[in-house]
Amino acid sequence: MDNRDEALKKIKDEVISLSTSPLFAYRTENKYLPVIGEGNHFAEIMFVGEAPGKNEALTGKPFCGRAGKILDELLISIGIDRKDVYVTNIVKDRPPENRDPLPEEIEAYGPFLDRQIEIIAPKVIATLGRFSMQYVMSRFALEWELSSISDIHGKVFDAEPNGTKIKVIPLYHPAATIYNQHLLGTLKEDFQVLKTLI
Ligand code: URA
Repeated sequence: MDNRDEALKKIKDEVISLSTSPLFAYRTENKYLPVIGEGNHFAEIMFVGEAPGKNEALTGKPFCGRAGKILDELLISIGIDRKDVYVTNIVKDRPPENRDPLPEEIEAYGPFLDRQIEIIAPKVIATLGRFSMQYVMSRFALEWELSSISDIHGKVFDAEPNGTKIKVIPLYHPAATIYNQHLLGTLKEDFQVLKTLI
């Protein structure tokens, strides 16, 4: 195992035994798995979603349900293979009934995402949905650029955490297109912008 694999495995082990998490009891009672992240440990693009849904918590894989299928299609539309990117979430355990993550859940799992970003050091972070947009932009001292996702989706922001250049592009969450079909066109256009960044 090289250093990255080892460092990411350590994150996995720590999350598995994170009994202080507000979602730990719910995970274990339901025999769910934590969803750490999946993909290329040297990826240039990292996607950050919100939290696992039921399919994800049953398999331990991010974006493997309906929203994942949409993400796969969007990647295909720009000629990028899913195995070449890294996909994760801020919150690593499923919130009950897929409700929005609570601030204390984001606080519990955020540091693991921070470490994943540092280890993988992607060129681009594409946030999926408003929670990851808010978290990542605040983390990268871009909170002054924060606005509603309808205003800033598809815009590219430059950040330099720890002296490394990273571009952040906020995107709508793929699941949003299930109930609002016209957002699929918007998301496709924003993926075209994403493609220009690598
Ligand atoms: N929605 C998310 O935000 N993440 C997943 O992994 C699946 C659905």
